[in-house]
Amino acid sequence: MKETINGLSVFLEGNSKNKSIIFIHGFPYDSTMWQSQINLLKEEYFCVAYDIRGLGKSPADNGQFTMESFVDDLEMIINQLKLDKPILCGLSMGGYIGLRAVEKFENKFSAIIFCDTRADADGNEGKLKRAAAIKRINTEGVAPFTKDFITNCFGDYFKQNYKVEFEKRISDSLSFDPVGVKGSLLAMMGRNDTTEYLSKIKIPALIICGEFDALTPPAVMKPMAEKINNAEFVVIKNSGHMSPIENPKEVNEAMTKFLLKL
Ligand code: MLT
Repeated sequence: MKETINGLSVFLEGNSKNKSIIFIHGFPYDSTMWQSQINLLKEEYFCVAYDIRGLGKSPADNGQFTMESFVDDLEMIINQLKLDKPILCGLSMGGYIGLRAVEKFENKFSAIIFCDTRADADGNEGKLKRAAAIKRINTEGVAPFTKDFITNCFGDYFKQNYKVEFEKRISDSLSFDPVGVKGSLLAMMGRNDTTEYLSKIKIPALIICGEFDALTPPAVMKPMAEKINNAEFVVIKNSGHMSPIENPKEVNEAMTKFLLKL
């Protein structure tokens, strides 16, 4: 079922009386990246996935986004749907939103699952890369940028063995509004560093990372997981940055095991 909440496209699956899980996708993707997890978990959980403002089916408006406005959107969805301490699940940019939300209001969540993400903010090199990406979109349009970006996200195994699915992620991104894509880049570029809060997190945490993730590799994610008390850290085989799409079997196993213990 689809609902529109303050302009955002929100997709609901499963029984609303069950424990809820809220899924936040990465950049430049949309909520469909969680389909394999939702197909499995909707039997036992109320699954809420939404398209971040400016991506997928959520309109870009003026594109003036910040990580704070993305967190406001998340909070608004939780309040509007009256979700009682949902489990928060985010990948990469979805993880940035999730980490900042936990830093701001951890007591609204019962557990966290973060895939292929990081707590530190963009350094100088990262900021310059975002600026170059915005310049490229302004001169060439969105397609060449998202094609290169998405190609770098996926590992070789998926690109070679799941060509159609890989190409579909690229073609889906071509319909994204350049204003929204640039808005996400600006929000990520300006986000705060949430590293300090990691050791204060009290709720159960599962941290997932693709073994060949080129953007947020295990060398970045393992130390991040070690800063969170009792966090579980799982490395996903044959996977790059998009582990829930690239190896849904292993990601689903890790999630199911973690959720059963809650
Ligand atoms: C994502 O997958 O959301 C992006 O790679 C995050 C980023 O560019 O920092």
